[in-house]
Amino acid sequence: MQRPEIITIDGPAGSGKSTLGELLARQLGYLYFDTGVMYRALTWAALHRQTDVYNQEMLEHLAHQVVIEVVAPMQDDGRQYTVLLDGTDITWEIRQAEVDRNVSVVARYPGVRAEMRRRQRVIGQRGHVVMVGRDIGTIVMPEAPLKIYLDASLETRARRRMAEQRRRDDTVSLEETRASVARRDELDQHVMQPAPDARILHSDTHSPEEEVAWIIALFDSAEPPSSM
Ligand code: DC
Repeated sequence: MQRPEIITIDGPAGSGKSTLGELLARQLGYLYFDTGVMYRALTWAALHRQTDVYNQEMLEHLAHQVVIEVVAPMQDDGRQYTVLLDGTDITWEIRQAEVDRNVSVVARYPGVRAEMRRRQRVIGQRGHVVMVGRDIGTIVMPEAPLKIYLDASLETRARRRMAEQRRRDDTVSLEETRASVARRDELDQHVMQPAPDARILHSDTHSPEEEVAWIIALFDSAEPPSSM
């Protein structure tokens, strides 16, 4: 396989997509683009404006109004990128538990999805990009030559999410996080199908470095394995 210009990584919450995506992009010198950030930014915008997230029409309208930019880190505080909403830095705000609780509802509205997918596609079509999300290989960039579907057990994913959240809030429990991840799995079901030509990777027993090595090995082998 020639080195693909677009690599998609899809999979459920907490499967390790962002760690893998960032590492892979850095190794290849590609742009790392976490598409979930766009749904999170829109959700935060609605909460901040006290717009009812269950009001589909308002949310679909808001999706066309807001300017969401994902740029290189503007501060050295452990962030992978800076997220700007109408010019305001909301990088950490979009990780709040309130956004976690509401984002799957917002991401279900067809008008929201259509607009976010359109914007994501514009970025993807520029190439040299590792795009991370749920529906990137299936709908946003189906022409991508290399598609990864990253999976892991609920237990592993809940533990990872808790470790991530504990950096900002040391009161979250594993039970709480497990329930929240399971609830999001249910709400995200509609976009959780791997593309038919995706390579399935299970991250429970592999480190991100091993995963990157496996993906890079795919470029060189004539008969690559379909799963790890
Ligand atoms: O990956 P994440 O947890 O940051 O995603 C946030 C939400 O956005 C999650 O509920 C799924 C949704 N999402 C989506 O529907 N499609 C994408 N391409 C990326 C995320």
